[in-house]
Amino acid sequence: MARLFTPLRLREIELKNRIVVSPMCEYSAVDGHPQPWHLVHLGSRAVGGAALVFTEATAVEARGRISPADTGIYLASHVDAWRSIVDFVRKQGAVPGMQLAHSGRKGSTAPPWLGGKKVPLEEGGWEPVAPSAEAFDKDYPMPRALAAAEVREIVDAFRKAAERAFAAGFEVLEIHAAHGYLLHEFLSPLSNFRQDEFGGSFEHRIRIVLQVAEAVREVWPARLPLF
Ligand SMILES: Cc1cc2nc3c(=O)[nH]c(=O)nc-3n(C[C@H](O)[C@H](O)[C@H](O)COP(=O)(O)O)c2cc1C
Repeated sequence: MARLFTPLRLREIELKNRIVVSPMCEYSAVDGHPQPWHLVHLGSRAVGGAALVFTEATAVEARGRISPADTGIYLASHVDAWRSIVDFVRKQGAVPGMQLAHSGRKGSTAPPWLGGKKVPLEEGGWEPVAPSAEAFDKDYPMPRALAAAEVREIVDAFRKAAERAFAAGFEVLEIHAAHGYLLHEFLSPLSNFRQDEFGGSFEHRIRIVLQVAEAVREVWPARLPLF
């Protein structure tokens, strides 16, 4: 406990204590826009005294959402919707953070309380994309393998999302590269069977993650932390 309630400096951001609210999917957005639910969810954690409050995994493009009810940061209107939540969190003395994410082959699935299984196109689903055309399991949609040029477009989507997150007022950014989502799918030889520059050897499998980190760092100010 000795240090839990002492400040922590990360680059030029000072956290008032060491309590961080981890990103938690809420499955309550509308077309990627956070709702009053998100203001209350994130706002109450800030009121409660956490120093750093992360948004849920927030998609860098529409097909990068896990479910149709996930938040996004791929439209200008998303920036406006996030800004009021950011302002409220900051007024409580907390630092607002955003987790940038792409669901990859685990996209187009229903919220857990609706079964979590694939959402068909006619019910608002989409064709997910992945390093290789291999489904996560039998209840998940079959993804389409990305062409190399499309991988570069996704790197660029992360860059643009970082710019929008900055415009919305976020002060910490996190790149989600775990839990079997797109970046993790590239890292793992169990889901990446590519033969090009983005698959095969360890150096090739990590390439997209390095490129995303570099692209985000290019536009994310040096004074702000990137996790
Ligand atoms: C409801 C819920 C939603 C979650 N959503 C995300 C998410 O969007 N991104 C993420 O990286 N982890 C997510 N997680 C995982 C948490 O961030 C955290 O890593 C995990 O709960 C382990 O920490 P804990 O032992 O403190 O619960 C979620 C967890 C829960 C319970």
